[in-house]
Amino acid sequence: MKFCSSQRLGSVLALFFFALVFWDVLGVRALDNGLARTPTMGWLHWERFMCNLDCQEEPDSCISEQLFMQMAELMVSDGWKDAGYEYVCIDDCWMAPQRDSKGRLQADPQRFPGGIRRLANYVHSKGLKLGIYADVGNKTCAGFPGSFGYYDIDAKTFADWGVDLLKFDGCHCDSINLLAKGYKHMSLALNKTGRSIVYSCEWPLYMWPLHQPNYKKIRQYCNHWRNFADIYDSWESIKLILDWTASNQDRIVNIAGPGGWNDPDMLVIGNFGLSWDQQVTQMALWAIMAAPLFMSNDLRQINPQAKALLQNKDVIAVNQDPLGKQGYRLRKEKDIEVWERPLSNLAWAVALRNLKEIGGPLSYTTSLVSLGKGVACNPGCFITQLLPMKKDYGFYGWTSSFKTQINPTGTVLLKLEAISVN
Ligand SMILES: *[C@@H]1O[C@H](CO)[C@@H](O)[C@H](O)[C@H]1NC(C)=O
Ligand SMILES: *[C@@H]1O[C@H](CO)[C@@H](O)[C@H](O)[C@H]1NC(C)=O
Repeated sequence: MKFCSSQRLGSVLALFFFALVFWDVLGVRALDNGLARTPTMGWLHWERFMCNLDCQEEPDSCISEQLFMQMAELMVSDGWKDAGYEYVCIDDCWMAPQRDSKGRLQADPQRFPGGIRRLANYVHSKGLKLGIYADVGNKTCAGFPGSFGYYDIDAKTFADWGVDLLKFDGCHCDSINLLAKGYKHMSLALNKTGRSIVYSCEWPLYMWPLHQPNYKKIRQYCNHWRNFADIYDSWESIKLILDWTASNQDRIVNIAGPGGWNDPDMLVIGNFGLSWDQQVTQMALWAIMAAPLFMSNDLRQINPQAKALLQNKDVIAVNQDPLGKQGYRLRKEKDIEVWERPLSNLAWAVALRNLKEIGGPLSYTTSLVSLGKGVACNPGCFITQLLPMKKDYGFYGWTSSFKTQINPTGTVLLKLEAISVN
C-alpha cells in the first residue's frame, strides 16, 4: 500500500469525509506478517526470574529449560491457555557465552541440555508458542552475545528452531542510527525466513528521551514496542508507566491497532509488590491501553484471587477487542482519573481510577454525557462493572449520572453498551 501525501489527504478530506475516517485507521501501515491482530498474550520470565543462573542453589527459579517446560504445562492444566495466554517467552540469559563455530547463537548447555529446538517442540506439543530474546547491539543487557553483525544468521537460527516470537532488546548499541538500522534489518531478516514470528521491539525506549521516535516507521517493522523503562514489582512503577502513557498519549494512542501495539511491559499481578486494588488497577488499565499481556509471575504458586483476575474473561475481552483501538486518559481531576476505550459494537470501556493513597473508598459521580465522546450512552446504555468484581447496573439514560465507590489506588472498570435506536 502506498502512502498518500498530506496534501492529497487534504483533498480526500474535502471530498469524502468518511473516506478520511477510514484512511485514518489504515493510513499507518502495520508490519505485514499477519500476527498480533489483537495484543499478544503470554508469559515472560524477566520480572519474576530475572537473570538467575544458579541452578545448583536455586534449581526451581534459575533460567533453565525446566522452568519453561513447567510453565508450559501449567498454562495448559490451569486454564491459562483457555483464557488466551499463548506465548511462553524466554528473556535474557538463556545463551551460552559464545556463539558456535558457525557463528550461531547457542543455548547454555547446562541449563538447556535439550537445546531450544527441543524446548520449542515441547511447547508446541502443548498447543502453545515459544518466544525468545536477543539484542540489536553488541551484547544483550546481561552481557551475552548480541546480534549486531549476525541479524540474518540469528533470524534463521530462531526460525530453524521453531521459535514464534522474538523480543529484541536495545542494549549495547552505539548510536540511534545503528539502532534504527538494526531493528529494521532484523524485521526483514525474520520475514525472509518465511516463518511467522511475532517481533517485539524496544526501539522507541532506547530513543527517548533525547530523540522523538517515528512511530509510523516503527509500526511498519514491529508488532509491539516498549516505550518506557522496565516494569518493577511495585506500585511506584505502575504509576510511572501510567503517567508516562497519559502524558504521551497524543503521540502514541492513534498509532496502535491490529498488528502493532504500544507495550507498557509485563503484568506483575500475582507477585509481591502490589496490593489487591493495585493489581486490579494494572489489569484494568492494561486492558484500556490495548497492551500485550505478558504475565511475569510464578504459575506454580499464585494465589487464587490473582489467578482469577488474570483469567477474567470480560476484562481480557476488553483488552482483545477486535476494533483494536487503544484507550486514553479522558480527564484528570484532583483525586480521580477517568480513562476510556472505544470497543466494537459501539460499546465503551471506562476506568475510574482513585489516585488517593489515604482514607477509605471514594464516592465518585460522573455524568454519562461526558463519556465516550457523548455517544456511549446516547440515548441510553447498559452499564456493567467488570472490576473489581462483576456487577450489573442495568439501564441508564443519556442525561443521567453514574455513581460508584473506588478504593484508594484502585480502579473501577465499567463496560457501557449503548442501546440501539431505529
Ligand atoms: C513478509 O512480508 C510480505 C510483504 O511485506 C508479506 O506478504 C509476508 O506475509 C511476510 N512473511 C512473513 C513470514 O512474515
Ligand atoms: C559493536 O562494536 C563495534 C566495535 O567496537 C562497533 O564498531 C560497532 O559500532 C558496535 N555496534 C553497535 C550496534 O553499537
